[in-house]
Amino acid sequence: MRVGVLTGGGDCPGLNAVIRAAVRKGIFHYKDEFVGFIEGWRGVVENKTMPLDLDTVSGILQLGGTILRTSRTNPRKMEGGIDKCLASIAANKLDALITIGGDDTQGVANALIEKGVKVVGVPKTIDNDLSGTDACFGFDTAVSIATEAIDRLHSTAEAHNRVIVCEVMGRDAGWIAITSGIAGGADAILVPEKPIDVDHVCALIKNRHDRGKLFSIVVVAEGAKLPGTDKNATLGQKVDAFGHARLSGIGQTMADLIEEKTGYETRSVNLGHTQRGGTPTAYDRMLATRYGSAAIDLVHAGEFGRLVVLRGTEITNIALKDAIAKTRTIGDDLIELAAGLQPEV
Ligand code: F6P
Repeated sequence: MRVGVLTGGGDCPGLNAVIRAAVRKGIFHYKDEFVGFIEGWRGVVENKTMPLDLDTVSGILQLGGTILRTSRTNPRKMEGGIDKCLASIAANKLDALITIGGDDTQGVANALIEKGVKVVGVPKTIDNDLSGTDACFGFDTAVSIATEAIDRLHSTAEAHNRVIVCEVMGRDAGWIAITSGIAGGADAILVPEKPIDVDHVCALIKNRHDRGKLFSIVVVAEGAKLPGTDKNATLGQKVDAFGHARLSGIGQTMADLIEEKTGYETRSVNLGHTQRGGTPTAYDRMLATRYGSAAIDLVHAGEFGRLVVLRGTEITNIALKDAIAKTRTIGDDLIELAAGLQPEV
């Protein structure tokens, strides 16, 4: 079969491992040919391709980023965008398309499925917020990077008797914040799923000072709402082609409020894209490899319009349209786990 592959949306550690697994299994076991679309849906709209063979996927397992590059191009927002996608799929004589991406990328894939394109999706996002799967590759790497940063912030905060607020990614879900916050031993963890109570955060910090701990670490998710509002802190008002604002700034806002209310010197640090860069963890390489291999198997089973997912420890698949229906946020269990580690103040 001739199979197209693309990576769309924000990059994510493990994308190359998915590509490598699908291509190796496809060539070695099914005698497939592959076509790589460059820069996500932009490559499909503009029919920009690159060869994808055993040579191109050699030595990429441990690399961050994506050899296909990526973009947040949305063909549904472009004049004739979907028709251009259909034309380049036909021009490349593709029997199937593997779309590796999050809800935005899979939303476009779903529009093509409705036009008869044979698509298999692979879930990708460091945010871990795709419904239908228990885990997205890239999340484990992002959490490891954030946890290491939180560990490092402890020693400098302690040396200076400071509070440090660490802002992490995750968009509208608190998976990265709650996981790295608990793993890194943060003194307060603030997530989009729960309104921020500034007085409670300050009381936790003061309680630590009363117990002789003259520094504190606060982890805040970029999507946590500005205190007393239902709004996010953003960089400007612009939105991307999928309507998303650039979330950023809640960490600095919290640092200012904490310093003002407690009188303790407070700094903020925003980990930003460091969480997405660099080599994937072994867990993410393994999960990505399982997804890539399962995706090419689904292509040959003729099961299209499906998304490979992890349920418990098993790789299975679900209807792609069900996976993009809603954001998977963190549950009360994790919020209670974090709260149980804090004193009642
Ligand atoms: O969805 C992944 C993610 O890294 C979010 O956590 C973050 O809000 C967003 O992408 C950043 O997007 P960009 O790289 O386009 O600035």
